[in-house]
Amino acid sequence: MNLILLGPPGAGKGTQAQRIVERFHIPQISTGDILRAAVKEATVLGKQAKAFMEKGQLVPDDVVIGIIDERLRAPDCQAGFILDGFPRTIPQAEALQVILDRMGKSVDFVINIEVDPEELVRRLTGRRTCKNCGAMFHILFYPPKKEGICDRCDGILYQREDDREEAIRTRLNEYEKQTAPLIQYYRSKNILRPIPGMGDQDQIFEHIVRVLNTKSI
Ligand code: AP5
Ligand code: MG
Repeated sequence: MNLILLGPPGAGKGTQAQRIVERFHIPQISTGDILRAAVKEATVLGKQAKAFMEKGQLVPDDVVIGIIDERLRAPDCQAGFILDGFPRTIPQAEALQVILDRMGKSVDFVINIEVDPEELVRRLTGRRTCKNCGAMFHILFYPPKKEGICDRCDGILYQREDDREEAIRTRLNEYEKQTAPLIQYYRSKNILRPIPGMGDQDQIFEHIVRVLNTKSI
C-alpha cells in the first residue's frame, strides 16, 4: 500500500504514521525527519536545509525530490510506503508522479488530516520528541510518565527548533500558500480521503484503518 499523509504542521501526521507502520508494516518516509538527521550530522544536505528549516520555510523542491527519488528505490519500499510531509508543493507532487510512473507504482490514498488552526499551535508548542526512538509526546495532551523521559526507551525528550512561535507562524503560512493546493490536486484524482483529526488519537487511527481497509474490497 502506497500512502501520502497530508495535513498542516501539527496535524498528527508523524503520530499516525508511527501507528500505520506498526499495523501495516510499511516504512514511514518523513522528509522532515530525514532533513533533521542531516542537519544534526552537518552533512552537505543538512547545511543546505538548516537555515530554511530553522525559519520554518520549505526547503527547495529539487533537494527534497532528490531525497525521495533515492529513498523510494530502497528494498523496504517494495511492499509499500507512507510519505509523511512529502509532497508539499505542486511541483513536488508532479515529480512524485514521474518517479512512481517510472517504477510502475501509484499512490493508493492521500490521507488528509484535518485539524482546527488554533489547535495546531497548541499541539506544536507542547510537542516533545524522543532523541533516541522518535516517539512523540505532548506536555498536556500526551505527557510522558516521567517528565523529559521517553516511556518507550528511556531516551531524552527534546523540543524541535522550529516549534518556536515565530517559526510556527511561518510554517502555517507556508502550508496555506504552498501545500493546501495539493488537497484539490489529489481530490481531482479521486484518491483524497479526508480524516477528522480532532480528538482521540486511537479514534483517528481507527478512522484511517477503515479507509485503508477499503483497498482490497
Ligand atoms: P516536518 O517535520 O514535516 O514538519 P511539519 O509538516 O511542520 O509537521 P509536524 O511534524 O510539525 O507535525 P505532524 O503533523 O507530524 O504532527 P505530530 O504527529 O508531530 O517538516 C519540518 C520542516 O522540514 C519544514 O518546515 C521544511 O523546512 C522541511 N521540509 C520537510 N519536508 C519538506 C518538503 N517536502 N518540502 C520542503 N521542505 C520540507 O503531532 C504534533 C503534536 O500533537 C505532538 O506533540 C503530538 O503528541 C500531538 N498530537 C498528535 N495527535 C494528537 C491528537 N489527536 N490530540 C492531541 N494532540 C495530538
Ligand atoms: Mg511530523
